Amino acid sequence: MQFDIITIFPKIFDSYFEESLISKAKEKGLIKINVHNLRNWAVDKHWTVDDKPFGGGRGMVVKVEPIYRCVSTLTKLKVKSEKLKVNKKRKTKIILFTPRGKKFNQKMATQFSKLEQLILICGRYEGVDERVAKYIVDEKVSIGGYVLMGGELPALVVIETIVRLLPGVIGKSELLPERITKEKGFLEYPQYTRPEMFKPAKYIKDLRACPSKFRKAKVWRVPEVLLSGNHKEIDKWRKKHSKIIE
Ligand code: 6GU
Repeated sequence: MQFDIITIFPKIFDSYFEESLISKAKEKGLIKINVHNLRNWAVDKHWTVDDKPFGGGRGMVVKVEPIYRCVSTLTKLKVKSEKLKVNKKRKTKIILFTPRGKKFNQKMATQFSKLEQLILICGRYEGVDERVAKYIVDEKVSIGGYVLMGGELPALVVIETIVRLLPGVIGKSELLPERITKEKGFLEYPQYTRPEMFKPAKYIKDLRACPSKFRKAKVWRVPEVLLSGNHKEIDKWRKKHSKIIE
């Protein structure tokens, strides 16, 4: 799967994509991520990408021309299909990040993960010329009910959510069918690891100096059932304590 990010702050993405399972997925050839600097697609000698809003008001608005020029180049490129041995159009979606967009969720991530290419446009300033939403993009996406300074963090959030769904990126056990709901949501249950009993007093002299929650118990135990080896009971416990991410 290929991700093309359009941004005026390309460096934001450098370190994140060089770490963790995202970089592994890149090395394995499961994904390709291209970051495009919107300024390279400006139409004047000052590399202008923003301008004052018509009708007046605060701040600046991202211009339509550079986005149009960038997106049309990215969608024109055809790819050679392995199976058909012909050039074909990619299964592509163009997304604009805006707090006015549809709230991103696990189900959308599953749908996006079946595509071959996602073009992600990161807004900035006071907004993006509405003609981008009206004539260029397939979907407007928000990641939640709060306002960020731009679409760069939303792009990272959406890419990471999709990449972990791609076959071969994370361990098989984490994406077992029993953890995926009918509605394509995801079941998250509590996890524990060794030690079976944690005794905070062993690590600190004066427990009174700790946050009061630390003192709720002298011994912090792992639920008995998880140590039992009884997989039917373990499954039951996990179902009961699952939260559905939808
Ligand atoms: Cl996609 N953009 C901005 N600027 N703020 C947001 C957002 C997007 N999603 C939540 N808040």
